[in-house]
Amino acid sequence: MKLLHVDGSILGPHSVSRTVSAAIVDRLRAQHPDLDVAYRDLAQTPLPHLSGAVLAGAQPNATNAPDVQHDVDLGRQALDEFLAADVVVIGAPLYNFTLSSQLKAWIDRILVAGVTFRYGPAGAEGLAGDKRVIAVVSRGGLYGPGTPAAAAEHAETYLRTVLAFIGITAPEIIVAEGIALGPEARERALAGALDAAAALKAA
Ligand SMILES: Cc1cc2nc3c(=O)[nH]c(=O)nc-3n(C[C@H](O)[C@H](O)[C@H](O)COP(=O)(O)O)c2cc1C
Repeated sequence: MKLLHVDGSILGPHSVSRTVSAAIVDRLRAQHPDLDVAYRDLAQTPLPHLSGAVLAGAQPNATNAPDVQHDVDLGRQALDEFLAADVVVIGAPLYNFTLSSQLKAWIDRILVAGVTFRYGPAGAEGLAGDKRVIAVVSRGGLYGPGTPAAAAEHAETYLRTVLAFIGITAPEIIVAEGIALGPEARERALAGALDAAAALKAA
């Protein structure tokens, strides 16, 4: 079984989403010692922003300058890694009300027409629905249903939209929130998320 682990936090060892995503991978690895894990640290090795040159350069028979071809290849590698995975674990921090730009740059390489989705007469169809996706969303404030800030949350909601668009309609999402509300709130949120990680169904 193949697992892809992707982290989008810029906070290194202080990151809550990294701590919890690592705990999830450790748990799945303990259940499956032969688990084949690919790790992509998007802060350490960010993917470049998607560009028009790369979109054009990824077309069949395109002739590319070396820098554009390198960029096309980086995107293809990220896509291939995603396609190969049976399970995808995503560490997804909330920065300025949405996902980190590093994670967005990865998503821009994963949503590829004709590969992970296609449009037909009936509208859009997701083509990547065979994967289990587990995401950890970590946020400083409180955005739960019914809270005043709920409508300002564009990380979990955006991730759910993106995943559903490519066919992953039931992602398992663990939320750690209230991280910025003081040390006790942070500890409580982290402990709750780690408990949720420990309660995930086996791979
Ligand atoms: C650059 C930056 C922007 C942030 N923006 C928000 C925000 O818009 N709303 C919020 O509730 N928390 C915000 N936070 C707090 C983070 O959501 C919180 O630290 C969370 O744990 C981030 O995930 P991480 O620890 O995995 O990096 C921000 C933190 C940083 C560093």
